[in-house]
Amino acid sequence: MVILAVLAAATTPPPFAAPNSLTSALGPPWKGLTGSLGSPSSLQWLKKQRQCKRKAGTSSICAKFELKPPPYPLDALEPHMSKETLEYHWGKHHRGYVDNLNKQIEGTELDELSLEDIILATHNNGDLLPPFNNAAQIWNHDFFWESMKPGGGGRPSGELLELINRDFGSFERFIDDIRLAAATQFGSGWAWLAYKANRLDVENAVNPNPTDEDKRLVVVKSPNAVNPLIWDYSPLLTIDVWEHAYYLDVQNRRADYITFFLEKLVSWEAVSSRLEIAKARAVEREEEEERRKREEEEKSSDGEVAEIYVDNKSDDSEAE
Ligand SMILES: [Fe+2]
Repeated sequence: MVILAVLAAATTPPPFAAPNSLTSALGPPWKGLTGSLGSPSSLQWLKKQRQCKRKAGTSSICAKFELKPPPYPLDALEPHMSKETLEYHWGKHHRGYVDNLNKQIEGTELDELSLEDIILATHNNGDLLPPFNNAAQIWNHDFFWESMKPGGGGRPSGELLELINRDFGSFERFIDDIRLAAATQFGSGWAWLAYKANRLDVENAVNPNPTDEDKRLVVVKSPNAVNPLIWDYSPLLTIDVWEHAYYLDVQNRRADYITFFLEKLVSWEAVSSRLEIAKARAVEREEEEERRKREEEEKSSDGEVAEIYVDNKSDDSEAE
């Protein structure tokens, strides 16, 4: 119990002080931060809009973020992940992030944003604003619970397996890569399989895979609450490697926890569904880029026509 208390204290950030502090940290409403949100439809594919009611004045009251339960009973992952672990991990740690974020954003500009937009805005070029950790940890944990299922493990199939073979050489080599990422993340953090789409650069973070190859699967690891959304990748699978994820079941043997996760718990069906969405998103963004380029070309060619018209007029005037 002493260990649990220490873990809870170490992993649950204290409530952020006053909404006014956040407002001043953000500066004028969203100036300088809107750029980090990307194009208007960026992340539209995964945004869960919040219910907001307009008050008599100009501001709105939005529903608070809620603690979403895992898509199975808390004892459903036994014997590989115990009910007691989920009671603490979901019931205490995950709940703490939700409660803290709701307190942090109340009355601030962040209150009307989706969880994903709060993450992007508060990442703030790596100079994290206080709500970032709680917002990202809520997103990460929702994603983590849905990355597992009772009776999971085994091998993926279909296009997911084809892409894994194409991008890692074989399923076994992919497993080695993600196992290594999860095992070597120093301290607390996450290991991810993600789909790297068709943009190399993002405005608010350093791309960890700045290669020419896009539309491919990558394995990445991230410290603390950071997740691949800030690099504009589409996450497909995650392993929580904070000690609170495994200490009750296997104490300090993180390697054993990773093995249970990959061999007995991972839901390849969830990963396959996410891959479909990520690919559709990449196509949608390519079309958006094309449309934007066409519009820019049309605008610049309109400008050329106007210039010719002025020149002609000038020539007529000289002729007179
Ligand atoms: Fe966790």
